[in-house]
Amino acid sequence: MDDVFIVDGFAGKKRLEGEISVNGAKNASLIAMACSILFKDELSISNVPQIEDISRMSELLEGIGARITADEKNTLVISVSNSVNSSLVSDIAKWLRASVVLTGPLLGRFGSVSLPHPGGCVIGERPIDIFLDGFRKMGASVHEEDENYTLKAPDDGLRGAEIFLRVPSVTATEVFLMAGVLANGKTLIKNAVMEPEVVALAHFLNECGAKISGIGTPFLEVEGTGPLESKGKSFKTPPDRIEAGSFILLGALAGKDVVVDSCEPNHLDALLGMLSSMGVIFERGEDFVRVKESLHPLAPKEVKTHEYPGFPTDLQAPMTVLLTQAEGESLVFETIFEGRLSYIEALTWMGADILELDPHRVLVRGPKPLHGKVLKSPDLRAGMAYILAAILAEGPSEIGNAYNIDRGYERLENRLSDIGVAINRK
Ligand code: EPU
Repeated sequence: MDDVFIVDGFAGKKRLEGEISVNGAKNASLIAMACSILFKDELSISNVPQIEDISRMSELLEGIGARITADEKNTLVISVSNSVNSSLVSDIAKWLRASVVLTGPLLGRFGSVSLPHPGGCVIGERPIDIFLDGFRKMGASVHEEDENYTLKAPDDGLRGAEIFLRVPSVTATEVFLMAGVLANGKTLIKNAVMEPEVVALAHFLNECGAKISGIGTPFLEVEGTGPLESKGKSFKTPPDRIEAGSFILLGALAGKDVVVDSCEPNHLDALLGMLSSMGVIFERGEDFVRVKESLHPLAPKEVKTHEYPGFPTDLQAPMTVLLTQAEGESLVFETIFEGRLSYIEALTWMGADILELDPHRVLVRGPKPLHGKVLKSPDLRAGMAYILAAILAEGPSEIGNAYNIDRGYERLENRLSDIGVAINRK
């Protein structure tokens, strides 16, 4: 049976105090793990969070024959020999959307890859057309049968190509970056994303011999170099900006004086700008954000999700919880995924006043007190929103499907307890 989080709410009182540290970014570690396939020698990745998605990615890599050792806490060392099989374990790949990032390096290095349609959170359709189109441009053939795909590179390897991303996709940018390193000639990725996870990785690959230019812009150019050598260099996973943002929002909701440390405030401009204009009082340091008790009623806001450096879709649900406490009408516009507002039903049941305008937009009227309920986490980020709502609410809440939250947040109950949250796992 799946674990359940039990939370005793504070009925809107500001009680949390202390320091909470941010771990390495889930999505940066996942992509770095996929990058290990680009390396002739072993790749060491540090600051890796101990979460379910990382365990599943390890299993996928081991399934193709990679060797993974955890040489110290939060460090993985991965080596991928020339004798791997490039067929992804169906059950895991189906479930983990990030499995799609393995396609680029596997196809580039071993000439073929087969995988089922990759799953992930229940946040929308999540097609893979952009990946398939790009691989075709690089000369690969794509065979699809019953939602299983087999991709084959030309005999002389992938060809560099000009790839325009129909929508700026994070994982597609990463996939073509990696495929481009192993391809013959030049690959130009247009409409690439600028997420810090992609930027950190591209810089690291260059340190290891890749030739990537345009890093941090929507035009990435990759000169194919073939497999890389890390020569003992280690990729340090940057701090998780979504975890940091979630904790900062928690501080704004229920904090007296909460320091969110080991984070990178420069990656959080969209959130911090919004909070400051709402009236949340905080101090922004070099690697911390200290949230203090806000004295005034919070101002309502319009939140529209956007690729980085815009407002992250992964913080949209936790942000909506804060908006339930702002005085007046706020608008939330989810532009990236079509299924990412389904959590509002639960918040409404808890007492929030939220009106669905269409599948992408909701109107939030506040402030409204919330009441504890028995809920089930539908996905990772909505699950975090439920935890925040439960802390704010009056009375106890139970949040089932804790597994969905464990996918992205390490030992959440221990870390939240340390700053005063009344939370347990059963
Ligand atoms: N899209 C297509 N076709 C494709 C690929 C994407 O239409 O072939 C669409 C998607 O349906 C979506 C949009 O493009 O509407 C953007 O999605 P994107 O591809 O950027 O999402 P992703 O790469 O699958 C990553 C993160 C997500 C995060 C999004 C947006 C990883 C492993 N996942 O997903 O993280 O929400 O970017 O920032 O990096 C999470 O951590 O909770 C999470 C879901």
